Amino acid sequence: MSRNATNQLLKKAKKAKSDEFYTQLCDIERELQHYTGCFVGKAVYCNCDDPRVSNFYRYFKTNFERLGLRRLVASCYCEQEGDLFTPSPQGGGFYCEYTGSEATERFVRLAGDGDFRSPECVELLRQCDVVVTNPPFSLFREFVAQIVRHGKQFLIIGNVNAITYKELFSLIQNDKAWLGVNLGRGISGFIVPDYYQQYGTEVSVNSTGQAVIATNSCMWLTNLKQPRRDEKLVLTREYAGNEQDYPRYDNCDGINVDKTQDIPKDYSGLMGVPITFLHKYNPSQFEIVRFRKGDDGKDLCINGKCPYFRILIRSRGGGLVKN
Ligand SMILES: C[S@@+](CC[C@H](N)C(=O)[O-])C[C@H]1O[C@@H](n2cnc3c(N)ncnc32)[C@H](O)[C@@H]1O
Repeated sequence: MSRNATNQLLKKAKKAKSDEFYTQLCDIERELQHYTGCFVGKAVYCNCDDPRVSNFYRYFKTNFERLGLRRLVASCYCEQEGDLFTPSPQGGGFYCEYTGSEATERFVRLAGDGDFRSPECVELLRQCDVVVTNPPFSLFREFVAQIVRHGKQFLIIGNVNAITYKELFSLIQNDKAWLGVNLGRGISGFIVPDYYQQYGTEVSVNSTGQAVIATNSCMWLTNLKQPRRDEKLVLTREYAGNEQDYPRYDNCDGINVDKTQDIPKDYSGLMGVPITFLHKYNPSQFEIVRFRKGDDGKDLCINGKCPYFRILIRSRGGGLVKN
């Protein structure tokens, strides 16, 4: 392969790493099964989705009646360079609307490129109730800010690391957003462009012959009611008698807990827990106090070392959480 071709491949792969992970139908079904009832009479907007290939569009179209939807819209971004499914796009973006039968499905050209931030797409956003999609990872912060600004419901896929963005953490802390049901390996993998294989990345092939890459780092993020959120974490460990397992921070009056399942049931003070705790977070059981920082505003540390990001939480039961 020529140096130029290799560079092109690297450039594509770098971009694909963040933006070209296409969602599999099985993962959409696995998550969406927990939200039936949330869509009755609603207009759903998939605003980063080519309706010709998007499994989100496919899912909602197929289940339109069962979910009781009112309207489904998917808009497609067409950048000049092309993407996985439209290598040399002609013209700009477009959207597709569906209201319950083949006869109602209509494709409409957009004047612009279909960027979710464009006035045309913002207008489509205004008309919808729920946004459901997997947006480009590189624009995740902006994407969430826009949906929240417009007061929309949402169910979207993102990288777990996005929780560390302060705007997103603050939404979670204030119960304006929470994690969905599936996380990490609970999302089986994303369809990626074929050149991933050439690039040497580990991929498998799914039942429809598409290259799929498994990641352990994605989450569903939502503000839709989901039943798992009402479940309380069953705590079995005790702090009393096991103090050596829970070192205290140098710069905060609290203890470090390395694994969510090790949160002690008899500790009423601050506890630093890993980010994945949020998957088990029930706001009636715990309060989220702060992210990452000690009382001095610096990263939480133990014996001068600050190895991990931690979320500081406190039990709402004053440490007396019943099993
Ligand atoms: C992570 S992929 C997911 C695609 C699809 N939502 C799915 O789940 O299969 C993100 C998609 O967003 C599109 N995209 C990139 N920038 C965009 C933008 N500014 N506005 C709307 N869509 C964009 C990309 O072309 C890509 O198709």
